[in-house]
Amino acid sequence: MSNEVRSLHVFFIPFLAHGHIIPTIDMAKLFAGKGLKTTIITTPLNVPFISKAIGKAESESNDNNVIHIETIEFPYAEAGLPKGCENTNSITSMHLYPAFFKALGLLQHPFEQLLLQQHPNCVVADVMFPWATNSSAKFGVPSLVYDGTSFFSICANECTRLYEPYKNVSSDSEPFVIPNLPGEITMTRMQVSPHVMSNKESPAVTKLLEEVKESELKSYGMVVNSFYELEKVYADHLRNNLGRKAWHVGPMFLFNRVKEEKAHRGMDASINDEHECLKWLDTKEPNSVVYVCFGTTTKLTDSQLEDIAIGLEASGQQFIWVVRKSEKDGVDQWLPDGFEERIEGKGLIIRGWAPQVLILEHEAIGAFVTHCGWNSILEGVVAGVPMVTWPIAYEQFFNEKLVAEILKIGVPVGAKKWAAGVGDTVKWEAVEKAVKRIMIGEEAEEMRNKAKGFSQLARQSVEEGGSSYSDLDALIAELGSLSYSNE
Ligand SMILES: *[C@@H]1O[C@H](CO)[C@@H](O)[C@H](O)[C@H]1NC(C)=O
Ligand SMILES: *[C@@H]1O[C@H](CO)[C@@H](O)[C@H](O)[C@H]1NC(C)=O
Repeated sequence: MSNEVRSLHVFFIPFLAHGHIIPTIDMAKLFAGKGLKTTIITTPLNVPFISKAIGKAESESNDNNVIHIETIEFPYAEAGLPKGCENTNSITSMHLYPAFFKALGLLQHPFEQLLLQQHPNCVVADVMFPWATNSSAKFGVPSLVYDGTSFFSICANECTRLYEPYKNVSSDSEPFVIPNLPGEITMTRMQVSPHVMSNKESPAVTKLLEEVKESELKSYGMVVNSFYELEKVYADHLRNNLGRKAWHVGPMFLFNRVKEEKAHRGMDASINDEHECLKWLDTKEPNSVVYVCFGTTTKLTDSQLEDIAIGLEASGQQFIWVVRKSEKDGVDQWLPDGFEERIEGKGLIIRGWAPQVLILEHEAIGAFVTHCGWNSILEGVVAGVPMVTWPIAYEQFFNEKLVAEILKIGVPVGAKKWAAGVGDTVKWEAVEKAVKRIMIGEEAEEMRNKAKGFSQLARQSVEEGGSSYSDLDALIAELGSLSYSNE
């Protein structure tokens, strides 16, 4: 990198949710690793989480690779929000969301103060801060939008929004084909976010999403946490047919894959748990354990948890299952009678946080039951494990299509309905069937081989000369030329 590029300064403003903050830190590390100055903008209560995720060693080292953090105050009073809710992970009740989103809008002013003081050369803003594109433009700073998902789901979302195929069917369960999207992808209204379909009941959300689209188009371009070889057709489609400038720089965590660091990616890493489950995996045959995890924000009902327990046991497969900490006196009332005794040695339940990357990459893991959040899917792809897809909400039903129908490395469990937070009801028989199908037999073998192929391609993409490595360099060079041609 030239000296000009090294003097570039990039602002990152992640959406206030752990699932968005972690990849943003990964992205900041990529830029910092190329010698650029990087600053993450956040609110005070998110600083400890970010500092911890950046890693102690780095924050103590000198200039090189340092990621700076600048804070802007969270406007509790103006938004009418109780103190303490500075990210979605600390919001305990759905009715606080409107106030939370109002507060996010109010961050624009203090953000502009920082732009004025520091004059960065580029802003990378989460798609949920559409005003950041306007703010950057005001100060002549190019801005990039980070959407947090796959090329496929960005394209599918955009084509659904543009052509409104959901208006062409007579019921919520009647399938429609998404027009102008390669691959003949069919969806139902039940699987598409109500917010993507013009939704008269929540005008505030509809307005936010219109602003999001507008800012996407007005921004300099998009950065996507994916790699070209995984979804070529959709990367090309986004650029050539949907008219977005986009760079693929993923899987971002792979760029930063020091083992020690990976073990501390999330919060509350209980060292004992970590050692315990990895040691337990060491005693197992290759590809013999199913890993089950629904991400940090999904809150399945007790009856759904019970069905998962019964389904896993009925499948006869060994498993590691990550369950959100029980909130009622630490007692898991949903566990079937005698379950833990019966699965002793065969299944492990982890309550709370788990070292997901290390678990997935353990050779004993044979498949991953996932809620289809994009971070999780990428981790599965990098680890080379086939998946049982169990989308809950957001863009997860699109990600399921990519994994199961396009990449052919997954089996849908059969969730049919978008339901924020809780998901559709899936019976234990369906769990049993999908787990057996992903673990046993010729088809399972084929999917596993394909998954291992994508894992290799992922690794190659972030090596020198690989597609993501090169696109990151191209992006930085372009930001450099933009900055210096303006001066
Ligand atoms: C950005 O600026 C345009 C033009 O002034 C305005 O119409 C739009 O609402 C702004 N977007 C946001 C998200 O503030
Ligand atoms: C609606 O259905 C008709 C008849 O099947 C089809 O020709 C048309 O392309 C569909 N429109 C959209 C937006 O899917």
